[in-house]
Amino acid sequence: MIRSIESSGLKLLHRGKVRDSFRVDARTRLLIATDRISAFDLKLKTLIPRKGEVLSRLSAYWFEQTRDIIPNHFIRLVDPQASLVHEATPLRIEMVVRGYICGTLWRVYDAGRRDYSGVRFPERLTENAKLDAPVLTPTTKEDSDEEITPEAILARGLVSASMYTKIESAALALFARGASLAAQRGLILADTKYEFGVLDGEAVLIDEIHTPDSSRYWDAHAYAQGPQSVASIDKEYVRQWMRAQAHNGALPLELSPDVAAETSKRYCTLYERVVGAPLPPLEPGTDDTRLRLQANLRTAGILNGTLEESS
Ligand SMILES: Nc1ncnc2c1ncn2[C@@H]1O[C@H](COP(=O)(O)OP(=O)(O)OP(=O)(O)O)[C@@H](O)[C@H]1O
Ligand SMILES: [Mg+2]
Repeated sequence: MIRSIESSGLKLLHRGKVRDSFRVDARTRLLIATDRISAFDLKLKTLIPRKGEVLSRLSAYWFEQTRDIIPNHFIRLVDPQASLVHEATPLRIEMVVRGYICGTLWRVYDAGRRDYSGVRFPERLTENAKLDAPVLTPTTKEDSDEEITPEAILARGLVSASMYTKIESAALALFARGASLAAQRGLILADTKYEFGVLDGEAVLIDEIHTPDSSRYWDAHAYAQGPQSVASIDKEYVRQWMRAQAHNGALPLELSPDVAAETSKRYCTLYERVVGAPLPPLEPGTDDTRLRLQANLRTAGILNGTLEESS
């Protein structure tokens, strides 16, 4: 497992909640998916075994599966949890697509709201109900993401109108592809979030795609049995546990060992079910993540020196 890395030989570009980004050259970035987990925009202290691998390999899988819809940043995996990607200028919004009403949207709907991010929702929806058609509910990309309407996105000049039209149709097409592939595996892709960037003037899909961090997945059979009690095979499990543990509104910053183990299991299971193959085992002798990353980055010609673990 790895919390964070640094190296005198690699320029750190950004330490996000989950990924550490490094400069490879002017047009190339190294995205290391650490084993950190964040929920409710909080960085938790607990690491989740194999999480970085699941995020990296699952994104790699989906980037390949969706290349025909829109170009993406992915070049190749240089380590089970490190991706080489094209540097893009990220748009300052996140494109959330929902096929079902759950999570934050369900909570505000349940409290009486019917408009959200410019979308009007019908009466009498129940928790986790399928929407007539998938909807786009964009948010700003800030420390704490806020819902925003397409009109406000344009009025604030966050994205041009032509760019918005492009990423709107790309997001819906990506979601349709994701949902149909998931359905073939007995899964429901309930909702997800995409990030887009601009590269040589063109929109490209960046960051991650259809991972358990960015998406809610349900087992289709379990959903049919009880839509309102269906278990999420993803981060929603962590969010629910944290909410149940909250003291006077303060959420815990650490997960119990059994919750961390169960989270790891869910992430690995999701990978297996989506891809239809087990998460590739780590090569023997590579259980020290720092040393494995260091060796792989050297082999890829990205690193000359050493890699240190940082906190
Ligand atoms: N190809 C790319 N070019 C430039 N930036 C990228 C690219 N792909 C992803 N990013 C950015 O790298 C970061 C990934 O790290 P991570 O997801 O951990 O950050 P975050 O905590 O979600 O975001 P932030 O810290 O920016 O709020 C995000 O800020 C994302 O927008
Ligand atoms: Mg992110």
